[in-house]
Amino acid sequence: MFLQDFWYAVAWDHEIKRAPFGRTVCGEPIVLYRQTSGAVCAFEDCCPHRLLPLSKGFLKADHLVCKYHGLEFDENGRCVWMPGQEGVRKDANVRAYPVVEKHRFVWVWIGDPAQAETSKIPDLHWCSDANWIFEGGTYHVKCNYQLLVDNLMDLSHETHVHPTSIGQQEIVEAPIHATSDEKSVTVTRWMHNIDPPPFWAANLRSFAKCDRWQICRFSLPANVMIDVGVALAGTGAPQGDRSQGVTGIVVNLMTPESDTTTWYHWGMVRDFQIEDRGLTFRIRDGQAAVFAEDVEILESQQENIERRPDRQLLNLKIDAGGANARRIIARELARTQAPGQSR
Ligand code: FES
Ligand SMILES: [Fe+2]
Repeated sequence: MFLQDFWYAVAWDHEIKRAPFGRTVCGEPIVLYRQTSGAVCAFEDCCPHRLLPLSKGFLKADHLVCKYHGLEFDENGRCVWMPGQEGVRKDANVRAYPVVEKHRFVWVWIGDPAQAETSKIPDLHWCSDANWIFEGGTYHVKCNYQLLVDNLMDLSHETHVHPTSIGQQEIVEAPIHATSDEKSVTVTRWMHNIDPPPFWAANLRSFAKCDRWQICRFSLPANVMIDVGVALAGTGAPQGDRSQGVTGIVVNLMTPESDTTTWYHWGMVRDFQIEDRGLTFRIRDGQAAVFAEDVEILESQQENIERRPDRQLLNLKIDAGGANARRIIARELARTQAPGQSR
């Protein structure tokens, strides 16, 4: 069961080229391609004839042609040619998905197309803002998307999973403050007057004591933005003055593929040394290495969960954010899937 009536990041914008690109979102196989105008199309990845994935096909101008017997579809998914007969049958069209490019991602709408308003695309304004720089990547993770949400809403794991980069003992010692409303959860942690861990010392260009923050925000369907950074200790960052510090927003967009697999789009937007392209890619590569450490944990966790269906997850204080996010997801699923309920 997946949340319907949401925009999901299906791919980075640069991944969608002219050649048909197949990806499953919320259990729905989708084929995407770019027209000569640059606009992106998204259709059900299934030829209505003998059900071959259309992502195996090819383009003829802006039309998608099935690789098997050549049924041809226009940019709206309308079948415009079929072999061996005059004209086309009206029941041979393919379902078209609402699709939008924004903030460096291609988004598809899963659910009722009539509700697909672009204003509902998650707010990632930093990713399109000249005062910030953004880079990242994608992992295909063999785990349910909610395990990723748990992981990102509880950064106490950094101490043990990422000890050489961003982890430090103070994370598990600092208290968290969790709040939530109908559709979002925020977990805030401040660590005062601490030594910066290696990643942040390098970016702050100082090993002096710092104040460090981690503010994790979950929003439906499965997006987590983490406001992170450090500032020289006692310079007012907790009160809102970050002028003596550096800030990053860790962007995490979890797109379920199946119940047990997820397309995890990740990246970091930053407000410091934004002209330094080398730093941009060093941060991206460092982040890839850090998240690879998470992937190993998450996939092992998923395997064990499947091996032990009798076992429940245990919620500790550190899980307040993830547990609240799970509650919101469960409530939204129940609301949208109750018979006769409007979505
Ligand atoms: S399966 Fe696509 S044309 Fe036959
Ligand atoms: Fe992690």
